[in-house]
Amino acid sequence: MNEVREDGGANTASAPLNTPLKKVVLASNNAGKLREFAALLGAAGIKLIAQGELNVPEAEEPHPTFVENALTKARHAAKLTGLPALADDSGLCVRALRGAPGVYSARYAQLAGGEKSDAANNARLVEALQGESDRRGYYYCVLALVRHADDPEPLIAEGRWHGEILDAPRGAHGFGYDPYFFLPALNASAAELEPAVKNASSHRAIALRQLLARLTEEA
Ligand code: IMP
Repeated sequence: MNEVREDGGANTASAPLNTPLKKVVLASNNAGKLREFAALLGAAGIKLIAQGELNVPEAEEPHPTFVENALTKARHAAKLTGLPALADDSGLCVRALRGAPGVYSARYAQLAGGEKSDAANNARLVEALQGESDRRGYYYCVLALVRHADDPEPLIAEGRWHGEILDAPRGAHGFGYDPYFFLPALNASAAELEPAVKNASSHRAIALRQLLARLTEEA
Protein backbone atom coordinates (compact mmCIF):
# COMPACT_ATOMS: atom_id res chain seq x y z
CA MET A 1 0.00 0.00 0.00
CA ASN A 2 1.26 3.49 -0.85
CA GLU A 3 1.49 5.76 2.10
CA VAL A 4 0.70 9.23 0.88
CA ARG A 5 1.81 11.83 3.35
CA GLU A 6 1.17 15.50 2.81
CA ASP A 7 2.58 18.48 4.57
CA GLY A 8 0.00 19.04 7.25
CA GLY A 9 1.52 22.45 8.06
CA ALA A 10 -0.13 23.61 11.26
CA ASN A 11 -1.67 20.18 11.57
CA THR A 12 1.35 18.18 12.64
CA ALA A 13 1.73 16.35 15.95
CA SER A 14 3.84 19.13 17.38
CA ALA A 15 1.44 21.96 16.49
CA PRO A 16 -0.29 23.67 19.40
CA LEU A 17 -3.74 22.24 20.05
CA ASN A 18 -5.53 25.44 19.16
CA THR A 19 -3.81 25.93 15.78
CA PRO A 20 -6.59 26.37 13.19
CA LEU A 21 -7.14 23.43 10.87
CA LYS A 22 -6.73 24.21 7.17
CA LYS A 23 -6.90 20.89 5.42
CA VAL A 24 -8.63 17.75 6.65
CA VAL A 25 -8.94 14.30 5.08
CA LEU A 26 -12.40 12.72 5.19
CA ALA A 27 -12.14 9.04 6.14
CA SER A 28 -14.85 8.03 3.68
CA ASN A 29 -15.26 7.76 -0.07
CA ASN A 30 -18.97 8.45 0.02
CA ALA A 31 -19.51 11.35 -2.43
CA GLY A 32 -22.71 12.44 -0.69
CA LYS A 33 -20.98 12.74 2.68
CA LEU A 34 -18.07 14.61 1.12
CA ARG A 35 -20.47 17.17 -0.39
CA GLU A 36 -22.43 17.56 2.88
CA PHE A 37 -19.37 17.86 5.11
CA ALA A 38 -17.34 19.99 2.66
CA ALA A 39 -20.12 22.59 2.44
CA LEU A 40 -20.31 23.13 6.20
CA LEU A 41 -16.58 22.88 6.91
CA GLY A 42 -15.76 25.09 3.90
CA ALA A 43 -17.68 27.88 5.61
CA ALA A 44 -15.23 27.51 8.51
CA GLY A 45 -12.26 27.79 6.13
CA ILE A 46 -11.42 24.07 6.19
CA LYS A 47 -10.68 22.24 2.93
CA LEU A 48 -11.86 18.63 2.97
CA ILE A 49 -10.22 15.93 0.83
CA ALA A 50 -11.67 12.44 0.33
CA GLN A 51 -9.30 9.72 1.52
CA GLY A 52 -9.61 7.94 -1.84
CA GLU A 53 -7.91 10.91 -3.53
CA LEU A 54 -4.90 10.17 -1.34
CA ASN A 55 -5.01 6.41 -1.99
CA VAL A 56 -6.14 5.58 1.53
CA PRO A 57 -8.05 2.27 1.60
CA GLU A 58 -11.19 1.83 3.71
CA ALA A 59 -10.48 0.94 7.34
CA GLU A 60 -12.16 -1.96 9.13
CA GLU A 61 -15.07 -1.13 11.47
CA PRO A 62 -14.71 -3.96 13.98
CA HIS A 63 -15.91 -2.30 17.19
CA PRO A 64 -19.19 -2.58 19.09
CA THR A 65 -19.51 1.19 19.54
CA PHE A 66 -19.94 3.94 16.97
CA VAL A 67 -17.33 6.16 18.60
CA GLU A 68 -14.62 3.48 18.51
CA ASN A 69 -15.29 2.84 14.83
CA ALA A 70 -15.22 6.54 13.98
CA LEU A 71 -11.96 7.01 15.87
CA THR A 72 -10.40 3.97 14.22
CA LYS A 73 -11.28 5.29 10.76
CA ALA A 74 -10.02 8.79 11.55
CA ARG A 75 -6.72 7.52 12.99
CA HIS A 76 -6.20 5.23 10.00
CA ALA A 77 -6.61 8.12 7.53
CA ALA A 78 -4.45 10.48 9.63
CA LYS A 79 -1.70 7.88 9.94
CA LEU A 80 -1.52 7.23 6.20
CA THR A 81 -1.70 10.87 5.09
CA GLY A 82 -0.06 12.90 7.84
CA LEU A 83 -3.13 15.15 7.76
CA PRO A 84 -5.82 15.76 10.35
CA ALA A 85 -8.74 13.42 9.65
CA LEU A 86 -12.49 13.41 10.11
CA ALA A 87 -14.54 10.21 10.26
CA ASP A 88 -18.16 9.42 10.95
CA ASP A 89 -20.02 6.33 11.99
CA SER A 90 -23.77 6.09 11.97
CA GLY A 91 -26.75 3.81 12.19
CA LEU A 92 -30.41 3.39 13.08
CA CYS A 93 -31.32 2.66 16.72
CA VAL A 94 -34.82 1.32 17.40
CA ARG A 95 -36.22 1.44 20.90
CA ALA A 96 -38.36 -1.70 20.73
CA LEU A 97 -35.30 -3.59 19.40
CA ARG A 98 -33.15 -2.38 22.30
CA GLY A 99 -31.07 -0.18 20.01
CA ALA A 100 -30.72 -2.60 17.07
CA PRO A 101 -29.70 -2.53 14.28
CA GLY A 102 -27.44 0.16 15.79
CA VAL A 103 -23.77 -0.12 15.02
CA TYR A 104 -24.56 -3.12 12.79
CA SER A 105 -27.03 -1.17 10.60
CA ALA A 106 -25.13 -1.71 7.35
CA ARG A 107 -24.93 -5.49 7.99
CA TYR A 108 -28.25 -6.08 9.77
CA ALA A 109 -29.62 -8.67 7.31
CA GLN A 110 -26.22 -10.20 6.65
CA LEU A 111 -25.81 -10.98 10.35
CA ALA A 112 -28.99 -13.07 10.11
CA GLY A 113 -27.70 -14.98 7.06
CA GLY A 114 -29.17 -12.62 4.44
CA GLU A 115 -27.51 -10.41 1.89
CA LYS A 116 -25.78 -7.09 2.50
CA SER A 117 -28.27 -4.72 0.91
CA ASP A 118 -30.63 -1.92 1.89
CA ALA A 119 -33.61 -3.99 0.72
CA ALA A 120 -32.65 -6.98 2.88
CA ASN A 121 -31.93 -4.73 5.89
CA ASN A 122 -35.31 -3.04 5.56
CA ALA A 123 -37.09 -6.39 5.19
CA ARG A 124 -35.47 -7.61 8.41
CA LEU A 125 -36.41 -4.39 10.20
CA VAL A 126 -40.07 -4.60 9.16
CA GLU A 127 -40.18 -8.25 10.18
CA ALA A 128 -38.57 -7.55 13.57
CA LEU A 129 -41.16 -4.85 14.31
CA GLN A 130 -44.23 -6.77 13.15
CA GLY A 131 -47.05 -6.26 15.66
CA GLU A 132 -44.97 -3.81 17.69
CA SER A 133 -46.77 -0.61 18.66
CA ASP A 134 -43.70 1.31 19.89
CA ARG A 135 -42.22 2.50 16.60
CA ARG A 136 -39.76 5.04 18.02
CA GLY A 137 -36.21 5.14 16.71
CA TYR A 138 -33.47 7.52 15.79
CA TYR A 139 -30.57 7.81 13.45
CA TYR A 140 -27.32 8.32 15.33
CA CYS A 141 -24.11 9.81 14.01
CA VAL A 142 -20.80 10.29 15.75
CA LEU A 143 -17.96 12.31 14.26
CA ALA A 144 -14.34 12.00 15.29
CA LEU A 145 -11.74 14.57 14.28
CA VAL A 146 -8.09 13.86 15.03
CA ARG A 147 -5.32 16.39 14.44
CA HIS A 148 -2.87 13.52 13.98
CA ALA A 149 -2.94 9.74 14.38
CA ASP A 150 -1.95 9.79 18.06
CA ASP A 151 -4.05 12.82 19.02
CA PRO A 152 -4.82 12.37 22.74
CA GLU A 153 -7.71 14.85 22.53
CA PRO A 154 -9.83 13.95 19.51
CA LEU A 155 -12.85 16.15 18.94
CA ILE A 156 -16.00 14.07 19.22
CA ALA A 157 -19.49 15.26 18.25
CA GLU A 158 -22.77 13.41 17.98
CA GLY A 159 -26.23 13.84 16.55
CA ARG A 160 -29.56 12.06 16.97
CA TRP A 161 -32.44 12.44 14.52
CA HIS A 162 -35.65 11.12 16.06
CA GLY A 163 -38.46 9.50 14.11
CA GLU A 164 -40.72 6.46 13.83
CA ILE A 165 -40.34 3.25 11.86
CA LEU A 166 -42.96 2.67 9.15
CA ASP A 167 -44.08 -0.78 8.05
CA ALA A 168 -44.42 0.23 4.39
CA PRO A 169 -41.91 2.31 2.40
CA ARG A 170 -42.51 5.93 1.43
CA GLY A 171 -40.45 8.08 -0.92
CA ALA A 172 -37.61 7.56 -3.36
CA HIS A 173 -34.78 9.81 -2.14
CA GLY A 174 -32.03 8.99 0.34
CA PHE A 175 -30.60 5.56 1.03
CA GLY A 176 -30.54 2.82 3.64
CA TYR A 177 -33.52 2.87 6.00
CA ASP A 178 -34.83 6.25 4.77
CA PRO A 179 -38.08 4.97 3.16
CA TYR A 180 -39.07 3.47 6.53
CA PHE A 181 -37.95 6.37 8.71
CA PHE A 182 -40.86 8.73 9.35
CA LEU A 183 -40.48 12.24 10.77
CA PRO A 184 -43.76 13.29 12.41
CA ALA A 185 -42.71 16.95 12.61
CA LEU A 186 -42.19 17.05 8.84
CA ASN A 187 -45.02 14.61 8.05
CA ALA A 188 -42.69 12.79 5.68
CA SER A 189 -40.32 9.86 5.55
CA ALA A 190 -36.63 10.70 5.20
CA ALA A 191 -36.87 9.37 1.62
CA GLU A 192 -39.65 11.87 0.85
CA LEU A 193 -37.49 14.83 1.83
CA GLU A 194 -35.57 16.79 -0.77
CA PRO A 195 -31.89 15.94 -0.27
CA ALA A 196 -31.10 19.52 0.79
CA VAL A 197 -33.79 19.36 3.48
CA LYS A 198 -32.51 16.01 4.77
CA ASN A 199 -28.92 17.23 4.73
CA ALA A 200 -29.85 20.27 6.79
CA SER A 201 -31.72 18.36 9.51
CA SER A 202 -30.19 14.88 9.67
CA HIS A 203 -28.15 13.23 12.44
CA ARG A 204 -25.01 14.05 10.41
CA ALA A 205 -25.97 17.73 10.15
CA ILE A 206 -26.64 17.91 13.91
CA ALA A 207 -23.29 16.28 14.69
CA LEU A 208 -21.44 18.46 12.21
CA ARG A 209 -22.89 21.65 13.65
CA GLN A 210 -21.78 20.49 17.11
CA LEU A 211 -18.29 19.78 15.78
CA LEU A 212 -18.10 23.19 14.13
CA ALA A 213 -19.15 24.87 17.37
CA ARG A 214 -16.35 23.01 19.18
CA LEU A 215 -13.82 24.05 16.53
CA THR A 216 -14.95 27.66 16.76
CA GLU A 217 -14.70 27.56 20.57
CA GLU A 218 -11.12 26.33 20.24
CA ALA A 219 -9.99 28.81 17.59
P1 IMP B 1 -22.15 4.43 7.71
O1 IMP B 1 -21.87 5.07 9.00
O2 IMP B 1 -22.17 5.39 6.56
O3 IMP B 1 -21.30 3.22 7.47
O4 IMP B 1 -23.66 3.93 7.77
C1 IMP B 1 -24.02 2.76 8.44
C2 IMP B 1 -25.40 2.34 8.05
O5 IMP B 1 -26.36 3.06 8.83
C3 IMP B 1 -25.79 2.58 6.61
O6 IMP B 1 -25.37 1.53 5.78
C4 IMP B 1 -27.30 2.65 6.70
O7 IMP B 1 -27.83 1.36 6.76
C5 IMP B 1 -27.51 3.32 8.05
N1 IMP B 1 -27.61 4.78 7.92
C6 IMP B 1 -26.78 5.72 8.43
N2 IMP B 1 -27.19 6.96 8.10
C7 IMP B 1 -28.30 6.79 7.36
C8 IMP B 1 -29.17 7.71 6.70
O8 IMP B 1 -29.01 8.95 6.71
N3 IMP B 1 -30.20 7.16 6.03
C9 IMP B 1 -30.41 5.82 5.98
N4 IMP B 1 -29.64 4.92 6.54
C10 IMP B 1 -28.57 5.41 7.26
